Amino acid sequence: MRIAMIGTGYVGLVSGACFSEFGVEVCCVDKDAGKIERLKRGEIPIYEPGLDDLVARNVAAGRLSFTTELAEAMAGVDAVFIAVGTPSRRGDGHADLSYVYGAAEEIARHLDHYTVVVTKSTVPVGTGREVERIIRAARPDAAFDVASNPEFLREGSAIGDFMRPDRVVIGAGSDRAREVMRQLYRPLFLIETPIVMTALETAELIKYAANAFLAVKITFINEIADLCEKVGANVHDVAKGMGLDGRIGRKFLHAGPGYGGSCFPKDTLALVRTGQDHDSPVRIVETVVDVNDKRKKAMAQRVIDACGGSLAGRTVAILGVSFKPNTDDMRDAPSLDIIPALQTAGASVRAFDPAGMHEAAKLLPGVTWCEDSYQALDGADCVAILTEWNEFRALDLKRVKALLKRPVMIDLRNVYSPADMAAAGFTYTSIGRPAQANEDVAP
Ligand SMILES: NC(=O)c1ccc[n+]([C@@H]2O[C@H](COP(=O)([O-])OP(=O)(O)OC[C@H]3O[C@@H](n4cnc5c(N)ncnc54)[C@H](O)[C@@H]3O)[C@@H](O)[C@H]2O)c1
Repeated sequence: MRIAMIGTGYVGLVSGACFSEFGVEVCCVDKDAGKIERLKRGEIPIYEPGLDDLVARNVAAGRLSFTTELAEAMAGVDAVFIAVGTPSRRGDGHADLSYVYGAAEEIARHLDHYTVVVTKSTVPVGTGREVERIIRAARPDAAFDVASNPEFLREGSAIGDFMRPDRVVIGAGSDRAREVMRQLYRPLFLIETPIVMTALETAELIKYAANAFLAVKITFINEIADLCEKVGANVHDVAKGMGLDGRIGRKFLHAGPGYGGSCFPKDTLALVRTGQDHDSPVRIVETVVDVNDKRKKAMAQRVIDACGGSLAGRTVAILGVSFKPNTDDMRDAPSLDIIPALQTAGASVRAFDPAGMHEAAKLLPGVTWCEDSYQALDGADCVAILTEWNEFRALDLKRVKALLKRPVMIDLRNVYSPADMAAAGFTYTSIGRPAQANEDVAP
């Protein structure tokens, strides 16, 4: 089989490479000529573990190629996937569908045989129908069907998520389109991955409902963490005690600085707008959006409080700026709220992130970027952990203490144990846990 993948971002590039690993011939298209040039040279424009090997292997096997020309990519394909961005539209929070509709118009120009047009981008209910209308208006006689195939991969573990997903969701109205999709995902049928076949609208809504539910779960445990701080409870143990209930589950119950990233903030907001448009408000999600925004903004105050109420003339070391570990993605990262607020409060900021600094430097002016954690700590008044990269989990605490002017750590990811930090002589602030241990008590 042969497909074209429009958009070589986090989703398009990973999906394209993984389909080629399934044995499909894949041509990835991007209008960003620089990105395509780099891919042709064998460079991977994003940080995603394992992606370089996967791409190299499939390029060498002749199954994966890159171009800026959609006409070339669409020659003889069974399906063309739209995997372009759907950011929040400035001002109103609706998903900006201009890239999706732009791609639909371009596809219409190159359709010359039956093709399934698949939206892999996260798009609000009704977008697939509009893609269909755009193509039909431009090409009344063209043979095509539109399908929805939302993507659930997570940055940082994207390849594993694509190759061994919890489920595949396919929304399509015709048997012919469903059959093409079934063939493309055949390797996943063979390992008995649940495939949810639905109507177009249902598939589109599944993606938003899933992301919004996860955002609700995170925000719920964050508010419970705040309550824990007031009453002397430990959110880590509360989450464990809750999560062991099979109806609840342990995942996404990690208290932190508020969700960020390329999906949850924009997708929760877009779902809120869709609900309002259809006079069916999703009030839980409206509240979650509000609570999370306020939470991210309030996090800087924790750093200020830990430093005695003022950051004037102080230096703060920041470990981690990407929105989560194992990615260089900075979209809506909590660091984008926290670091400017620290600077406004008078702090100088020294920061280190294993993969995100190149992108972050464009978004966070005035930060001194360091080569490793210890360089960032050197001479700082305190350290704040914003992203739980593995390498921040095992810092040499003696060295940390020696490098800092004061042994003050603000751990917004609960990487360390309050008991260990107290024993190491740190003034330690974390999320939803008492400063001194009543943790890890043996049964
Ligand atoms: N990033 C994630 O973890 C993730 C996970 C699941 C779903 N999604 C969804 O997938 C979609 C893509 O997200 P992403 O993070 O990969 O975006 P991205 O911004 O990393 O990549 C989008 C790419 O599309 C290209 N593009 C835009 N219009 C084009 C056109 N007409 N022709 C060719 N190329 C074009 C851009 O140049 C860019 O390289 C979004 O809807 C997102 O919500 C993302």
